[in-house]
Amino acid sequence: MANVKFHSGEKVPLEMHKVRIVQKLELLPIEKRLEAIAEAGNNTFLLKNRDVFMDMLTDSGVNAMSDKQQAAMMASDDSYAGSETFYRLEDKLKNLFGMDYILPAHQGRACENIISQTLINPGQIVPMNYHFTTTKSHIVINGGTVEELIIDEGLETTSTCSFKGNMNIDKLENLIRLNGSENIAFVRMEAGTNLIGGQPFALANLKEIKEVCRKNNILLILDASLLQDNLYFIKTKEEEYKEKSIREITREIADQCDIIYFSARKLGSARGGGICIRSEHIFNGMREFVTLYEGFLTYGGMSVREMEAMTVGLEETMDMEVINQGPQFIEFMVDELIKKNVPVITPAGGLGCHVNAMDFVDHIPQNEYPAGALASAYYLVSGVRGMERGTMSEQRNPDGSELFANMELLRLAMPRRVFTMSQVKYAVDRLAWLYENREMIGGLRFTEEPKILRFFFGRLVPVSDWQQKLVEKFRKDFGDSL
Ligand code: F0G
Repeated sequence: MANVKFHSGEKVPLEMHKVRIVQKLELLPIEKRLEAIAEAGNNTFLLKNRDVFMDMLTDSGVNAMSDKQQAAMMASDDSYAGSETFYRLEDKLKNLFGMDYILPAHQGRACENIISQTLINPGQIVPMNYHFTTTKSHIVINGGTVEELIIDEGLETTSTCSFKGNMNIDKLENLIRLNGSENIAFVRMEAGTNLIGGQPFALANLKEIKEVCRKNNILLILDASLLQDNLYFIKTKEEEYKEKSIREITREIADQCDIIYFSARKLGSARGGGICIRSEHIFNGMREFVTLYEGFLTYGGMSVREMEAMTVGLEETMDMEVINQGPQFIEFMVDELIKKNVPVITPAGGLGCHVNAMDFVDHIPQNEYPAGALASAYYLVSGVRGMERGTMSEQRNPDGSELFANMELLRLAMPRRVFTMSQVKYAVDRLAWLYENREMIGGLRFTEEPKILRFFFGRLVPVSDWQQKLVEKFRKDFGDSL
């Protein structure tokens, strides 16, 4: 999005791309949507995409690719070992991050598996700004524990803090003092902190963390899956970096880190993952896990076509006019929802628009999953699929009691360059209607509850007939509209 001012004064994110391939969508009538969500056990992960109008479940693996990415895919080099495609990817990552050793993996959580198995001894702690679901599971499965050291503003739903993803440095120093650096496996920082609303960290904060890690001889690992949004926020909101290029900021971030891993389903708008490592010793420890779990060292479970797309996508990430589309569309959506009094996480972050279910449906207790209930209700009234990011996304405590999430969010992801402005307006309109009718939304309860990552395939039912009543109200207000 270039610096284009509208004469009207309206703040409109103007796309600096045109659409050349389209996919037809269908919007089912609400009665069919009721059937679909019941069949999916009120879990939006279990909806069939054919029953979804706007898929705002995630930005993972569903960003629009550029013509250059598509073209590169045609020229990929298929071979089990020594593929030219891998060397192109390796060169790009070395060039961007300045690290000597690169390992491919099929996606972000595969990197987390390899990192956790290599670097965590049972009983060790992993301090981080905030956890991500798959990250925490891998750390815990390997005997580690997660300590979240996010600054207080990070957990405030509405705030003017530009860097809610920052870590509290005092807390980090105290934790190390109390436990001893030998009991810290590594420090993990997550760019564009996913579970608290895609909130970025400041480069100044990362530098302070690095200093603490250096003094205590602890590794600093960056989860760069959402780096592109974080780069945008550093460039636009951190005074010191206003004049620096995205490439320079990227390198300065990387310079603070010992290891960078990422899901290329987000970063680079392709599908895959990778680990960039500074130390040869650590690289040697990790690479056998790549051949064990992923594939040979020159593809790591990825198709060569995806690797080519990733290489081009990583380079395109250095272009401000490419990476600003996501955050600016999200900001537009957040602003529109605020105008209609819908409670959303502020400031607008990356990844998507995050609706505060704790306020939206404040009559639903946390053990009836307010964010899950809102996700189900929203699909019902709009055909838009969002994702629960609250208590359902947590794992129960070892004694079987619920671990209530700090935040109950309905995440409406904004896959990059996928939706048009009128579609975003539709999503806002239906959510505003639902907000006006929020008292009608009821809770959910599990009928099938997996032990690990239950939100992926758990099944739930409504606690009453609130969904049927919502359908009746929709018909009353919208007539025969889809
Ligand atoms: N780290 C972060 C910060 C993520 O957001 C994700 C995935 C992963 C790691 C795992 O990567 O999916 O490639 O294995 N987030 C997706 C999401 C699933 O929808 O937010 P993966």
